[in-house]
Amino acid sequence: MLSCNVIDLPPFHVMEILERAQELDRAGRHIVHLEIGEPDLPTAPHICEAASVAMCAGETKYTHSQGIPQLRKAIADNYNRKFGLDIDPGQIIVTSGTSPGLLSLFIALLERGDEVIMSNPHYACYPNFVRALQARPHFIYTKEEEGFILEPSEVCNAINPKTKAILVNSPCNPTGQVMTAKQLMELAAIAADVPIISDEIYQGLVYEGEDHTILEYTDNAFVLNGFSKLYAMTGWRLGYLIAPKQYVRTLQKIQQNFFISTNSFVQHAGVAALSGPQDQVFEMVRTYDERRRYMLERIKKIGLNVRAPPMGAYYILADARQYGASSLELSWRILEEAGVAVTPGIDFGDGAEGYLRFSYANSIENIAEGMDRLEKYLNG
Ligand SMILES: Cc1ncc(COP(=O)(O)O)c(C=O)c1O
Repeated sequence: MLSCNVIDLPPFHVMEILERAQELDRAGRHIVHLEIGEPDLPTAPHICEAASVAMCAGETKYTHSQGIPQLRKAIADNYNRKFGLDIDPGQIIVTSGTSPGLLSLFIALLERGDEVIMSNPHYACYPNFVRALQARPHFIYTKEEEGFILEPSEVCNAINPKTKAILVNSPCNPTGQVMTAKQLMELAAIAADVPIISDEIYQGLVYEGEDHTILEYTDNAFVLNGFSKLYAMTGWRLGYLIAPKQYVRTLQKIQQNFFISTNSFVQHAGVAALSGPQDQVFEMVRTYDERRRYMLERIKKIGLNVRAPPMGAYYILADARQYGASSLELSWRILEEAGVAVTPGIDFGDGAEGYLRFSYANSIENIAEGMDRLEKYLNG
């Protein structure tokens, strides 16, 4: 008999779409992939080289549960340099991706019946982590007309004795919105009482507005970040958590018990990513921006509404309600009948139902082909 904690666990719909799209690919059908949030560009050669050198040099054992000192120092240096902070490497726990970092953090903070405030739409997996620990997501429905921004006054109203954290994600998946310094500062003012969890996995992928971290505005915050997006390292599984000092020992014990440590040679690749040349990152940001502009124009021309144009990450959330209420049904039809894989808005909560999320982590040529097919299918 399965645990009631997981019996109602919904699928991560984008993964189901991807898996079916791959099946169609294998059967010889050409599918345009605009569903998955994964860089199409390869990991930079100097990062691969560093992993290979480390592996051959015998870096194949367990490491310190918090991660190798060189990587923790590189992460701290990187945040400190970029944002003028004073993070100590001792505050860092290196994880096998941002996702296990989220799990460890929620294990550390949540008890049955506790609440985590988060926006709706939100990254698909957030509520599922929370519910798996018998806690509850407390949704704040953000409005497209207001740029999908988490309103501090609404956050304040939502706080109650069960609230254990406020979850923010900027740049945001799926909306592509980037919070301003003022918005982060206003949220941080609330963090005197309740800690903020800031998922900064898309940090650096900002095309309009500015790159920030919540740690510029409050110390009562946990930051999650990783190498999947900015360094095109999704399959390497490398991320980290920056925690206030008083929580580190508990998080370390969680890491020791449940994960032991993160892959050793992968951590050396992480050092190379942060300390090595950044030209590929700059080039990638420029390329994504070009694709963003192109895709936005095409989506609007098709007749899908985007009232809050994205400024960061690599997603466009478009209103497709005129094509039917169920985004799941529409996505499956678009995949099977038009050969374009897109993500249903419902993956990101009922606040995005009727919407479709398009990823521009694909070449301009593929995006153009996808848009041509979509235009013909929806309007033809
Ligand atoms: C907002 C957000 N957080 C976390 C993750 C998970 O990232 P990782 O590959 O580091 O586990 C993703 C992946 O798409 C994401 O979009």
